[in-house]
Amino acid sequence: MLSLHDLLLSRLRESPEGLAWAEVMALALYHPEYGYYGPGPRRIGRGGDFYTAVSVGPLYGQLLAELARQTWEQLGRPAAFTIIEQAAHDGQLAADVLAACDFPYLIVEPNPRYRTVQREKLAAQGDRVRWVNSLAEVNLDAAPGGLPALFVCNELLDAMPVHLLRWSGETWQELRVRADAHEGLFFSPEKPERRLAEEIASLPTHLQPGHVVEVPLAALAWLRELAAAPFHGAVCIADYGLDAEELFTPERAQGTLRRYLQHQMDDRVLEQLGECDLTTHVPFSRLIDAAKQLAMPVLSYEHQGRWLGKLAMPWLASLEGQPPDATTRALLRQFQSLTHPGIMGRSFRVLVLEK
Ligand SMILES: C[S@@+](CC[C@H](N)C(=O)[O-])C[C@H]1O[C@@H](n2cnc3c(N)ncnc32)[C@H](O)[C@@H]1O
Repeated sequence: MLSLHDLLLSRLRESPEGLAWAEVMALALYHPEYGYYGPGPRRIGRGGDFYTAVSVGPLYGQLLAELARQTWEQLGRPAAFTIIEQAAHDGQLAADVLAACDFPYLIVEPNPRYRTVQREKLAAQGDRVRWVNSLAEVNLDAAPGGLPALFVCNELLDAMPVHLLRWSGETWQELRVRADAHEGLFFSPEKPERRLAEEIASLPTHLQPGHVVEVPLAALAWLRELAAAPFHGAVCIADYGLDAEELFTPERAQGTLRRYLQHQMDDRVLEQLGECDLTTHVPFSRLIDAAKQLAMPVLSYEHQGRWLGKLAMPWLASLEGQPPDATTRALLRQFQSLTHPGIMGRSFRVLVLEK
């Protein structure tokens, strides 16, 4: 096989019904050779394709360490308390959190290439950091009653494959991927796959014809896995996302699926597959409904700016009355980027669940 495009064309030859966008997105992001994330962690931040809260600097990790301390207190200071992270990428968030607290750390990482990079970055931490392949394995030492833990993931869900639906004015159609006579890929409106029926039943129908929405089947399956994982405590999901009332508006009629390449964002998602990051906004209202049904009630759900502002209170109070040194000035600049509504403060949301 020569490229992701060839791989898709060969799959399309075997699929007269076309391919679900979720299948194309999964290959474009996670194929071990040709996927954007498959071969190993890409550079994030300046020199990469996009920024995340982690790439802004160590303050984000320091504040999550504060959240870990609060969770540990609320759980009654259990000795086995552990921070669990998924989507640890190159291990940067783990390094920042570990530098700011004494808790052990567990990384859920199915990709061996990522583990190698994470192990190198975190080598100095010795056996404070351990790894598992899946959420089902997190209770490594078989703590009775499950592991007391804070689970964190930053920008995991926006990178999960989604199905695409388009409102015709009368019915929901699935946008599936097909190839034309010149082997170019295009979206074709089709009868939706049967497993989309339940999600379709809960979608509004007062929309203009052509309105596109993403269906997060993979994120919902992940949430079920999370609910069943053998740990208890809190779950912190941070990502950019929208509520239902923001998603089903004329401004969002094109949906939220976008690609990122060298800090440029556009909706030409069928081009340069495998070379660009592909993402969608997390539909937080849907996620919250599903979490409640899985007995994971919401502890808080806020814009990142407000949420981090509260978490940062003890640190900000400790700075009062002293002229900031260079390190503090750098951290304050990071605080500004993470919390300013025009930068990351409003578009990013943080959902904390009890588990
Ligand atoms: C947008 S990047 C975010 C990286 C990092 N958390 C940050 O905020 O800088 C998405 C990450 O999710 C990871 N990922 C996607 N699915 C995953 C899964 N099932 N388990 C672990 N990591 C996953 C990808 O490998 C990639 O590193």
